[in-house]
Amino acid sequence: MGLSLRKFSFSTNITKIKHKFLEVGNMASHPNSTCFYCDIIRKYETNYPARSGAFSADDTVYRCAIHSQFQCSVCKKYHHFSWLYWCPNEKHLICGNCNAPVLHPLSFWNTTYTYSFHCRSCNEPHFDLFYSEFQGKHPWQLEKEKFTHTVKGVKTDRLKWSPVVFRKGKKIRLEKALTIPNTVLQIRKRLGSAKFLSPLLNQTEIAQTDVRAQWEQNSKQWIDIINNTSPEDKGDLNRQLIIDPAMWKLIGEVNGLTVLDAGCGNGYFSRELASKGAHVTGVDHSKTFIEYCLEKEKYQQLSVTYFNLALEDLSNLDDHHFDLIVSNIVFVDVLHYTLAFKELSRVLKPSGRFIMSNLHPAFARIGSLFYRLPFDTPRNEERLYAIIDRYFDSGGTLISWGNMTPIWQFDRTLSEYSSALKDAGFLIREIVEPKPDNETIKNNPRHLAFDTDRIPFFIIYECIKSG
Ligand SMILES: C[S@@+](CC[C@H](N)C(=O)[O-])C[C@H]1O[C@@H](n2cnc3c(N)ncnc32)[C@H](O)[C@@H]1O
Ligand SMILES: [Zn+2]
Ligand SMILES: [Zn+2]
Ligand SMILES: [Zn+2]
Repeated sequence: MGLSLRKFSFSTNITKIKHKFLEVGNMASHPNSTCFYCDIIRKYETNYPARSGAFSADDTVYRCAIHSQFQCSVCKKYHHFSWLYWCPNEKHLICGNCNAPVLHPLSFWNTTYTYSFHCRSCNEPHFDLFYSEFQGKHPWQLEKEKFTHTVKGVKTDRLKWSPVVFRKGKKIRLEKALTIPNTVLQIRKRLGSAKFLSPLLNQTEIAQTDVRAQWEQNSKQWIDIINNTSPEDKGDLNRQLIIDPAMWKLIGEVNGLTVLDAGCGNGYFSRELASKGAHVTGVDHSKTFIEYCLEKEKYQQLSVTYFNLALEDLSNLDDHHFDLIVSNIVFVDVLHYTLAFKELSRVLKPSGRFIMSNLHPAFARIGSLFYRLPFDTPRNEERLYAIIDRYFDSGGTLISWGNMTPIWQFDRTLSEYSSALKDAGFLIREIVEPKPDNETIKNNPRHLAFDTDRIPFFIIYECIKSG
């Protein structure tokens, strides 16, 4: 059987489970809360049942069994129902992470699009469970027989895959109810897709050797991720669609220029600069990245020079050597950023330019993420608004993204960056907050629609070395 509802991890004995099963099957056990999604659908279909909301995946809204979370048969993770696709042939659910779906503009109920993926076993598209239900092709509609209970020989409407456990919440004191957890770590835990593994620490409490070792450890993983998402040696999707077009607009003509790529990573940007005629040096503190870049250089022969150096100490490089320095989403990972700016200023020619992209200090800092309701929804339009909070809390947090092992990431305010640039002898000539154009959003709706034209997640500083 391919359907399995989210089970909460607290232990309970089997009799209790059965009991709750029936309670939920009755759909009468939670009189105060109708399912969030049933309520929405009832605005369009007056006969639609007002099922009781028995589950809360995240303590935000209650949802019925049909509109809860189910387990993907491939990755075994639980997902919001509209990020899952039912294959009637193989009788299992697959999530949108395991089989990338395509967006279809379609108006149904309160929404304007659905997703489908092409199934290799059926050779036809399977739509997400939300639209499948609208079509009457949801598994519980198609094969209701198989999913209903027989009680004393009589078939009931109770779904077999009803919730195993529901949460009611405990009564607490009013004072407690009015306290909102408000530390950065708690905000981050509530909102983020990254895992936060430490509280925010002052950067003086963090060791550079650790920061470096963590990048070393993650380099191979990073290279694989980028190679998978970008076979043509471009950056990840954010770089391809949002950051790099704006970077290139600022950078302009590079033919004949001596250019430093500071924090070059897998080196794709160095190679692009070199293919446009620049004399490029790439530096990164991870040896694995530099070895990868040198390996690529062997057969591409773009005459890029690479050094395994930390930006805080570029003593291998001469003073006033470069016409241009670029740095693409690096400083969020740099511990001693003030030192690094001074080193970059030293190796730049007078009046040379330093063009640096970074995560936006206000909107991409943690504690400033899109609030979704429900929290687990994959639907872009259910991102309600961004929460900006704890802007002035600067420092590092140990986090992990996807399958990467923990790394330190640093939040600093816009004014901290601008004064560090000033102290290093830079004048900020322009600040760009890149935004994809409508055509790009239209062609990449899943990645870009509903948020990237609302808030800038990235910032680019064009600086001139003064004097
Ligand atoms: C987010 S990656 C970006 C890599 C590359 N610029 C790109 O756009 O794909 C950040 C890079 O900065 C490097 N890095 C972080 N701190 C550094 C430091 N203090 N000195 C040199 N490189 C550093 C990391 O090793 C990593 O390659
Ligand atoms: Zn419902
Ligand atoms: Zn999956
Ligand atoms: Zn199929």
